[in-house]
Amino acid sequence: MAYTIRNLKGKDYITLLDFTPLEFRALLNRSRDHKWGLVKTYPLKGKYVAGIFEKPSTRTRVSMSVATHDLGGTFLELPTSSLQVSRGETLRDTAMVLSRFVNAIAARVKSHSTLEELARWASVPVINMLSDEYHPLQALADVFTVVEFFGDRKLKVVFLGDGTANTNHSLMIASALMGYDYVVGAPQDYWPKKEVISKVESILSETGGTLTIVEDPKEAVKDADVIYTDTWFSMGVEDLEKRKEVFPPYQVNRDLLAMAKPHVKVMHCQPWFIGQEITEDVAYGTHSIAFEQAENRLHTAKAVLEALII
Ligand code: CP
Ligand code: NVA
Repeated sequence: MAYTIRNLKGKDYITLLDFTPLEFRALLNRSRDHKWGLVKTYPLKGKYVAGIFEKPSTRTRVSMSVATHDLGGTFLELPTSSLQVSRGETLRDTAMVLSRFVNAIAARVKSHSTLEELARWASVPVINMLSDEYHPLQALADVFTVVEFFGDRKLKVVFLGDGTANTNHSLMIASALMGYDYVVGAPQDYWPKKEVISKVESILSETGGTLTIVEDPKEAVKDADVIYTDTWFSMGVEDLEKRKEVFPPYQVNRDLLAMAKPHVKVMHCQPWFIGQEITEDVAYGTHSIAFEQAENRLHTAKAVLEALII
């Protein structure tokens, strides 16, 4: 049966773990329609999206806002400091009240449990705009970008650095849905959460991809098609001194790129910290597709909003 985004109406978009490979591909296909200008209608006309922000954001905030408006809807920017939750109102009441006004609740939160609580009480779809554990909007844009550059085929995708990062967890899941061979190169204390690994392994048994986790960054990037990295200091992390000590060997630089395939593409969700996890020449060099990746946040956000709301 052909899957379209129609199958996704009313669903939450929180971890991607409850999406099938076909559902994920339906989002990728629809994202391409949006990017190519094939969607001439305004499917979100008269619809509202609440955008709650507990943390700063540039790409996610603007792509979600522009996506909603481009599709005819209205995006309400709601920093938590401006909501009654800042004075102790419960997430339960916030979710129940917002559900009476808007057609989806999107939130960037410090703790993933906040999203779970919102989703528990909301009667409209809840969208994760980044939590400490997952960043699924980013992962959709990441895979969409990979497919744009490589086509829909088996690839070796390598994530280097902080394996506990929200971006890594979500890209692990998205890559498993695609059947990629995914490698995490990270210090042992920063390997992905066990719970995420076991869920990813169960997706892999269906899609035929693989997941490998190694400590050695050189071993990780050998023959890579894609090398992905993210900041070593995600918003909210506290063990800064330890991170400064263990992450430098995982820097994405020219020497490391030389060990990957000649056509290797370098990805980063941004914001990046030049000279830390990535060197300037690599970030702005010919292998980098980070700005295409950033642009694709817009096209993929449209697919998600349309799929869940309409
Ligand atoms: N990649 C990403 O989510 O960027 P922002 O923090 O700017 O939204
Ligand atoms: N892992 C990073 C992603 C920022 C978009 C963070 O959480 O700060």
